[in-house]
Amino acid sequence: MSTRRGSSALAPKHFLDIDRLDAKTLRAMLDHAHAMKKRRANIEGRVTPDASAPFAGRVLAMLFERPSTRTRVSFQIAMAQLGGETILLRGEELQLGRGETVADTARVLSRYCDAIMVRASNHQHLIEMAEFATVPVVNGLTDRTHPCQVMADVMTIEEKLGPIRGKIVAWCGACNNMAQSWIHAAVRFGFELRLACPAELQPTPEMISWATSQGCKVSANTRAAVAVRGADCVTTDTWVSMSDNDGERRKKLLAGFQVTRSLLATANAGAMFLHCLPAHRGEEVEAEVIDGPQSAVWDEAENRVYAQKAILAWCLG
Ligand code: CP
Ligand code: NVA
Repeated sequence: MSTRRGSSALAPKHFLDIDRLDAKTLRAMLDHAHAMKKRRANIEGRVTPDASAPFAGRVLAMLFERPSTRTRVSFQIAMAQLGGETILLRGEELQLGRGETVADTARVLSRYCDAIMVRASNHQHLIEMAEFATVPVVNGLTDRTHPCQVMADVMTIEEKLGPIRGKIVAWCGACNNMAQSWIHAAVRFGFELRLACPAELQPTPEMISWATSQGCKVSANTRAAVAVRGADCVTTDTWVSMSDNDGERRKKLLAGFQVTRSLLATANAGAMFLHCLPAHRGEEVEAEVIDGPQSAVWDEAENRVYAQKAILAWCLG
């Protein structure tokens, strides 16, 4: 009997958060992502689909409760290049926007599609979607985490600097959705993570003690200079996330956390700068850094395609 579309014979393989999967599974996903990118580099023409079309006949529903450029386009391209299709859904245009439940939406989408990618305004919507969907659900960002982005970020570090294990990543900014996924990734991939966050926007003590209890070097302080010194990668994010409604307060709190040329100069020689984008030059990062020679942000954006091909391949089995 088919295990897809309504059968409960096998639980769907959701990609909800990095900490929900084991290190071996995640390592295999990233290896697959690297291999797909290398293979593609050997194919002439950037829009040539993979001839083996492993996702032929598969449809990914992409549900957005928030705006998106990279997530939307990179998932669409990933599916298309592997022979599959996507359906773009905006929350407010569905009956969801008129009060239909997430659970019923999940049940119905599962009867039409092979997987559901969700960008949720509230992490609980993602969890409910996964609870009631009978096909895999992928986290395309919530107010709490952004695991697809951090998989692409780890891939980008490895591409430029070699294996991530033992590397030092410095985060400058609030402990937001990106930072939380970085903590999960540090634990599962075995690198050191130093978070520099204002006192009011620190990770919870539980999060840090979970990471350290797993044998991982994750530290949080309030000074960017401390986190960045000797780091292999320096990363940041917008000061005001889509789910934040205290923008002016955050901008004040984060004013001392800008990634400047002089700050980046204290990182290791050859250190790279990453930013998930969209960026605000003159706020979280100086233009000369994001547009400078140490920035790998365009590779990082491109790598969303490969990281997500590998994630979808795992989800769809
Ligand atoms: N980095 C990222 O997820 O970008 P979008 O919000 O454009 O999808
Ligand atoms: N922290 C940002 C990430 C955008 C991709 C936000 O949630 O808006």
